[in-house]
Amino acid sequence: MIMSTILITGGTGTLGKSLSALLSSQNIPHMIGSRNAESGKDHNVTMDLLQNKAVKEAVEGKQVIFHLATDLKKDALLTQNLLQAIGTNRNIHLVYISIVGIDKVPFAYYKQKLASENAIKASGIPFTILRATQFHEFIHQIITTFLKFPVGLLPKKIISQPIDASIVAAELYRLSKEEPVGKTIEIGGAEALTLEEMANEWMEQSGKKKLIFNLPIWGELGRTFCNGSLTTANSVKHSKSWRQWLAQHLVEK
Ligand SMILES: NC(=O)c1ccc[n+]([C@@H]2O[C@H](COP(=O)([O-])OP(=O)(O)OC[C@H]3O[C@@H](n4cnc5c(N)ncnc54)[C@H](OP(=O)(O)O)[C@@H]3O)[C@@H](O)[C@H]2O)c1
Repeated sequence: MIMSTILITGGTGTLGKSLSALLSSQNIPHMIGSRNAESGKDHNVTMDLLQNKAVKEAVEGKQVIFHLATDLKKDALLTQNLLQAIGTNRNIHLVYISIVGIDKVPFAYYKQKLASENAIKASGIPFTILRATQFHEFIHQIITTFLKFPVGLLPKKIISQPIDASIVAAELYRLSKEEPVGKTIEIGGAEALTLEEMANEWMEQSGKKKLIFNLPIWGELGRTFCNGSLTTANSVKHSKSWRQWLAQHLVEK
């Protein structure tokens, strides 16, 4: 087992894998916290933030903790258990990944993320919070799920500004090397598009023609999902466009 002062919770997820690959490419030792740490991988550590199992052991001796683990329904509890395990240790930089617009869109998961942010801010632990827009991988997953059949239903009018998970990972790493800023920073992709525009591009590049009906989202939730609340002015111009990302990833599939 290697020892390191860096822990990535959620290091097995989409963003976590990207961050771990970046650190590994620079020979930076780090531990990956997972509920199912694979045996034989000496930088994995078994921990469960929901059940609050082995969290104290995982954070012990760490100076940088990237908190990327998430739970759709209980994100705030995961964060609370992590904060409790860190306790009064102030010799630490907690880098938390959040989502652009969580304070504007009344979506249940976003309320959990906001509660996580607020708990971190109130904890006294030195922190940096990075809010990112949706990852290309996530938009791709949504479109392939909603358009599985020849006729699909899609909330066409949602506006998103997709970004490469690898760019978010690089920004998290950069921030971790700075002093904790004690506030929230935003990052977003190169362009904002509607889900309909992204689905059209997906159909064109994949050659899969579908009949798509609009799935309306009512009320304040629909209004905020569709009025640009998920976008940010802090866009990274060198992030791949949706078209470029698809061209690269659909070919690889
Ligand atoms: N997806 C997006 O478009 C997007 C955009 C902006 C921000 N974010 C944020 O970025 C973060 C990562 O997103 P992602 O899409 O990479 O997530 P993901 O692929 O769904 O991965 C989730 C991770 O959470 C870990 N996890 C879940 N429950 C856990 C528990 N009880 N204890 C310990 N670990 C647990 C999983 O690890 P194991 O299964 O190995 O235990 C997994 O590594 C999230 O906080 C999300 O809110 C995502």
